[in-house]
Amino acid sequence: MQVQWFVILIWYLLSTTGGATLVLDEVDALREIGKSLGKTDWNFSVDPCSGEQGWATTKLDNFENNVTCKCNATVCRVIGIVLKAQNLSGVLPRELVKLPFIQTIDLTRNYLNGTLPPEWGSTKLVNISVLGNRLYGQIPVEFANISTLEDFNLESNYFSGPLPPELGSLPVLKRVLFSSNNFNGTLPQTLANLSTLTDFRISDNNFIGKIPDFIQNWTKLQKLVIQASGLEGPIPSGISLLTGLTDMRFSDLKGPGSAFPPISNLKSLKILTLRSCNITGELPGYLGDFTNLNVLDLSFNKLIGKVPYNFTRLSQVGFLYFSGNLLTGNLPEWMPKNGNYG
Ligand SMILES: *[C@@H]1O[C@H](CO)[C@@H](O)[C@H](O)[C@H]1NC(C)=O
Ligand SMILES: *[C@@H]1O[C@H](CO)[C@@H](O)[C@H](O)[C@H]1NC(C)=O
Ligand SMILES: *[C@@H]1O[C@H](CO)[C@@H](O)[C@H](O)[C@H]1NC(C)=O
Ligand SMILES: *[C@@H]1O[C@H](CO)[C@@H](O)[C@H](O)[C@H]1NC(C)=O
Ligand SMILES: *[C@@H]1O[C@H](CO)[C@@H](O)[C@H](O)[C@H]1NC(C)=O
Ligand SMILES: *[C@@H]1O[C@H](CO)[C@@H](O)[C@H](O)[C@H]1NC(C)=O
Ligand SMILES: *[C@@H]1O[C@H](CO)[C@@H](O)[C@H](O)[C@H]1NC(C)=O
Ligand SMILES: *[C@@H]1O[C@H](CO)[C@@H](O)[C@H](O)[C@H]1NC(C)=O
Ligand SMILES: *[C@@H]1O[C@H](CO)[C@@H](O)[C@H](O)[C@H]1NC(C)=O
Ligand SMILES: *[C@@H]1O[C@H](CO)[C@@H](O)[C@H](O)[C@H]1NC(C)=O
Ligand SMILES: *[C@@H]1O[C@H](CO)[C@@H](O)[C@H](O)[C@H]1NC(C)=O
Ligand SMILES: *[C@@H]1O[C@H](CO)[C@@H](O)[C@H](O)[C@H]1NC(C)=O
Repeated sequence: MQVQWFVILIWYLLSTTGGATLVLDEVDALREIGKSLGKTDWNFSVDPCSGEQGWATTKLDNFENNVTCKCNATVCRVIGIVLKAQNLSGVLPRELVKLPFIQTIDLTRNYLNGTLPPEWGSTKLVNISVLGNRLYGQIPVEFANISTLEDFNLESNYFSGPLPPELGSLPVLKRVLFSSNNFNGTLPQTLANLSTLTDFRISDNNFIGKIPDFIQNWTKLQKLVIQASGLEGPIPSGISLLTGLTDMRFSDLKGPGSAFPPISNLKSLKILTLRSCNITGELPGYLGDFTNLNVLDLSFNKLIGKVPYNFTRLSQVGFLYFSGNLLTGNLPEWMPKNGNYG
């Protein structure tokens, strides 16, 4: 009788996540990962999946600290490491490959230096963010093998070189956030294949060539941000097919003048920026029907004529910028002469 109760007690302990602990191989891997990153406050006297003693801490402003695990009755596996705004000054850990179930690595806003480890190409990562570090070098071609990758955020680092054409084969890639780096070269034609994209941002880079026609294939796109990217205009007419866009921003396009892009179908837009895009001709009246708009920035183009009378519907727009054009006539009554309008 007593033995039976003992067995049931042990079974109960093991059947709750409280009983399961991280497999030892992964504890060792975390030791190495901590060393590479310069993460010194992980306390290996307690189980890394316990959420205690430095393994998961309450969020505070930008600061986040969380190792997450997935457990069955007996063992746990690491599935996520989130270490944001922690002043980490090491390098990206190639030892991540020793965590075979990891899906998320988020090292946003640290002082990490060095390059992207090619070894990550053999992981099943879903989310990668190294936003705001001191990383440099090219994107290793091996990253095109991370077939699970959905979110890829390299913003605000010193990455350079052309984008590897192989990235076009990533089958579920949704968010490409590459702004504020030193990427150069043309956008590879293979990116036409990325039909799963919802968010594409490449501002503040040194790309060359024209904005490619193939962006029209990204029919799930909601956000497209190409400001001071180095690319040249005009904005391809296929933009009219991207009716899911809620946020579209272009600026500083070199290249020949062009008419206003054909965006009459893009009625979901909340933010529309076409600043310094060498756009000629008149303001299209249909913008008056864009009742979701909150930001409309058409400044520094060569727009001529009057602000159409029926733009009155845009009186709810929070931010309107028309300055630096060749518009004539008085501004409509409903546009205040100061405040958020220019
Ligand atoms: C690590 O955790 C153990 C067990 O809770 C605790 O006794 C020890 O003080 C901790 N070490 C540090 C450096 O916080
Ligand atoms: C850590 O992440 C998990 C999964 O996202 C979440 O459930 C948990 O609340 C987080 N813990 C902290 C302390 O933020
Ligand atoms: C838990 O997972 C491990 C390895 O991932 C496996 O060997 C074990 O059989 C699993 N246990 C249960 C009760 O599912
Ligand atoms: C990072 O460094 C800054 C400046 O020294 C300090 O104020 C901040 O508390 C540090 N953050 C962490 C998480 O250690
Ligand atoms: C990846 O990031 C997105 C948002 O950026 C979030 O919705 C999603 O839950 C994350 N996935 C994983 C596996 O962490
Ligand atoms: C990276 O950090 C290490 C250690 O702090 C330092 O020795 C090295 O010079 C740094 N490299 C760059 C490119 O900043
Ligand atoms: C990608 O994975 C395939 C299959 O595992 C392998 O043959 C190929 O060499 C890998 N490519 C790179 C660049 O690592
Ligand atoms: C792109 O940048 C790399 C590294 O910074 C440089 O070697 C290369 O010449 C540049 N290519 C172009 C087309 O500007
Ligand atoms: C395009 O995507 C499909 C499906 O994701 C993939 O099978 C194919 O290899 C990709 N083609 C190129 C040129 O990357
Ligand atoms: C892009 O779309 C065009 C038609 O809009 C199609 O002919 C082409 O095959 C597509 N390219 C890819 C790589 O999906
Ligand atoms: C704008 O277009 C005109 C006419 O095509 C051209 O002469 C001019 O150089 C362009 N401006 C810029 C900044 O590219
Ligand atoms: C404004 O006029 C244009 C034609 O110039 C028309 O397409 C649009 O529907 C009108 N919008 C409103 C709000 O009347």
